[in-house]
Amino acid sequence: VFPATGYVEMAMASAAESAGAGPHVVEDFLVHQVLTLRGAEALSVQLILTPRAAGESSFQIFSLEEGNDTAWRLHASGKVRAAATADGDGRARVTEDVQALSARFGEPVPGELYYERLRGLGINYGPSFRGVVTLWRREGEALGMVRPPSELSFARNPSEFRAALLDTCLQVVGGSLPAGREAEELYLPVGFESARVWDELGSAGAVWSHATLRAHAAGAEAHTADLKIYDDDGRLLVEVNGLLLKRAPRAALLAGAELLDEWFYGVEWQRADAPRTGEAGAGLDRPEPGRWLVFDEGRGLGESLAQLLGSSGERCALVRPGDSFRRVSDGEWSIDPKEQEHYRLLLAECGGGGQPLRGVVHLWGMYGEGKEEGKAAASELDDAQELICGSALFLVKALAGLGRAEAPRLWLVTRGAQPVKEPHGWLSLRQSPLWGLGRVIAREHPEFWGGLVDLEGDGSGEEASWLAQTVGGGNGGEDQSALRGGERYVLRLKRRQPARKTDDAFALRGDATYLITGGLGGLGLTVAKWMYERGARHLVLLSRGEAPPSERAREVIEELQGAGTQVVIARADVGRAEQLARVLADVENSGWPLRGVIHAAGVVEDGTLLRQGWESFAGVLAPKVAGGRNLHELTRATPLDFFVLFSSVVSLAGPPGQGSYAAANAFLDALAHERRAQGLPAVCINWGPWAEVGMVAAATNGGRKEGARSSDAGEAITPASGVVLLEKVLMQKWAQVAVLPPGWLRLARSVSGGRASSLWAELAGETRPPRASGGTAAGRDLMRRLEASPVGKRRALVVEYLQAEIVSLLGLDPSKPPDARQGLFDLGLDSLMAIEFRTRLESTFKSPLPATLA
Ligand SMILES: NC(=O)c1ccc[n+]([C@@H]2O[C@H](COP(=O)([O-])OP(=O)(O)OC[C@H]3O[C@@H](n4cnc5c(N)ncnc54)[C@H](OP(=O)(O)O)[C@@H]3O)[C@@H](O)[C@H]2O)c1
Repeated sequence: VFPATGYVEMAMASAAESAGAGPHVVEDFLVHQVLTLRGAEALSVQLILTPRAAGESSFQIFSLEEGNDTAWRLHASGKVRAAATADGDGRARVTEDVQALSARFGEPVPGELYYERLRGLGINYGPSFRGVVTLWRREGEALGMVRPPSELSFARNPSEFRAALLDTCLQVVGGSLPAGREAEELYLPVGFESARVWDELGSAGAVWSHATLRAHAAGAEAHTADLKIYDDDGRLLVEVNGLLLKRAPRAALLAGAELLDEWFYGVEWQRADAPRTGEAGAGLDRPEPGRWLVFDEGRGLGESLAQLLGSSGERCALVRPGDSFRRVSDGEWSIDPKEQEHYRLLLAECGGGGQPLRGVVHLWGMYGEGKEEGKAAASELDDAQELICGSALFLVKALAGLGRAEAPRLWLVTRGAQPVKEPHGWLSLRQSPLWGLGRVIAREHPEFWGGLVDLEGDGSGEEASWLAQTVGGGNGGEDQSALRGGERYVLRLKRRQPARKTDDAFALRGDATYLITGGLGGLGLTVAKWMYERGARHLVLLSRGEAPPSERAREVIEELQGAGTQVVIARADVGRAEQLARVLADVENSGWPLRGVIHAAGVVEDGTLLRQGWESFAGVLAPKVAGGRNLHELTRATPLDFFVLFSSVVSLAGPPGQGSYAAANAFLDALAHERRAQGLPAVCINWGPWAEVGMVAAATNGGRKEGARSSDAGEAITPASGVVLLEKVLMQKWAQVAVLPPGWLRLARSVSGGRASSLWAELAGETRPPRASGGTAAGRDLMRRLEASPVGKRRALVVEYLQAEIVSLLGLDPSKPPDARQGLFDLGLDSLMAIEFRTRLESTFKSPLPATLA
């Protein structure tokens, strides 16, 4: 296997040749595909260095097998620049007392033992690469004394010598990985943020390599480390920051698998057994008859459902949208859907009378649904969202207000809103946001979550009884299901392997225009740069223009214009059809026809559903729902090469606090499928979080300047990998794909409090049980201790446990637990932490708790 350090050496050497002797810094380095050398097989390797801004070049390294003159394979990419400009923060070169450093560790391990273990994993280093003489290690940190390769001569071939010595130094990072699964698996360096050579490696005798992990989570798919290499006198020779190590199955290594290919996931509907039958209709498992509320869709389904529920002894009321709060007749209510208070009154009126309110079935998404909905005006779509999502939002608030642990189950039912079976005919786009919203309700309010159900597009006689069974408890633990052709389907996220392309490299056209909505945002600018690198020469970056472009935006635009690209900043709100139409008309008149669209406009507003009003919710929907639809309608007649919708994994995972954003993105998910069905190009990417640029980095950096390095490289997509992944997606025929960094699945499980939706069931085996779900050790022990204690001592134990949880959640000093009478929000608990807190308590006490607990 060609060492990663070999690429770095190539990049530095070519930079020295083109721009003068170093020192140089290599940045955003990424290994795309391992280069495996087999026996006498000859390969051509080519490095392409492209000058960018002053003193900086980007590079790509390809290989070509002998006898094949088209299938170039990309192995590595990055940037290289003169160190003087890169080191703008004026850090001086450091020295370290290496002897004192080694004394901080315990007993050293002879290097031979380390290589012995690697041999056990099937990795045999050649003699030039077996230079770790002694290794000191402890969790999260390792130090190695490394001897230079005696088989190689610096004088004869400095590049070869340096690459081998540097690679050996990188091996030391393996010693810092947590004990456990890591010990049995191979982790390969696949990239780094920056590497700088301070002094020539060949001048030193033995060198010291010191690796520090940024986070210690065991069992992770990826780890990030920082590495410093010193000479015997402790002078810093080389510094590598943000070294990303990824778990690499040996088989994949030998097959030359593309490392980023493992980041793709597909959302698939699969056939499942029918729900339990045998008992008539709903109310399965019920101890006594109860009441139901059906938010009727006015076309007969609600009435059939109510009848079926009634025939099995339940009492059922139909609720219809009207202009006032009114009891129309026995079992029939009318409410004004825009009045939050009406939902509360309704539950108060219908929840009493001795019979428990067992379930609420929301069919209001189906109002106005049908093949004609695509012809409705944009304003109608916005109004429809107020009825569809707004009613679900107000229902959630009213249900949470009941404050009961045994709250009625909420079911959201749509018709034809999911692409269950291909070809799926038409999709009801207007209902699709409910799917994103529902997934967030599931996570914020598991105490009353029932599930999401999608019925057949053109209706079927048995669906009412199927629905009655599903909402009555026969859903087999699935909270997302669909009915098609009388059969039941459930949703799963699965790994997706891209088809190998060995022919043409990806290229954009110099004689066409490409439109990026949200083009002045973090991802938009990154995509704009990438488009230029792939040959685009006319870009339109769309922005509402309420604030002046950021410093980064100005820099990027200047750089692109300086390189001869026409960049137009178009001021328009993508959600306003007339404004977008104006921009598109300008493009048409420019002489450079529109050939590709990237829809990256979006806003996010964090806040749990209980704290959301309709106005802020609608504000988040607008750029994606109205914006997506406008783009779709207004470019329908334009022959586009691609139409890319930037959605988020949030629409699938539904993390707490992102209800409106999940709903907005779920619309884009459906839009991509609908366009495909209409024979139009489209792909929707459910991106995981990006590092360094964009809205997630801005939020996690807590106001730090954009471009600050994120420390969670394994759990976020760096811009360098992001554009490579985008390019890979564009070379596939997918309608929708989730792109998730390796550490993300573990994270997803841990934030879901271990109660991940069945959507993740296929991948469950790949992730570790979440750490957070069980809360602290005190929590896991509590029930046993309570049982063993006299009644009088139990209260103190519970208080002590609650204090420990709060300390762990808020990161307080454990020696100073908060006063038991102090308000939790005064201590700094926010609404998202409150959900996590409640989830922990539920997991400890194995019992649902009301949403208003904290
Ligand atoms: N960053 C991530 O980690 C991540 C992850 C998953 C998905 N995404 C998605 O990727 C896209 C780009 O995200 P980002 O991180 O680059 O966010 P960003 O930096 O906030 O950029 C989004 C841009 O959208 C523009 N915008 C918002 N509403 C608009 C409207 N109605 N009309 C026209 N432009 C509008 C805003 O520009 P103006 O204020 O100038 O109009 C903003 O700069 C978003 O759709 C986001 O949902 C991002």
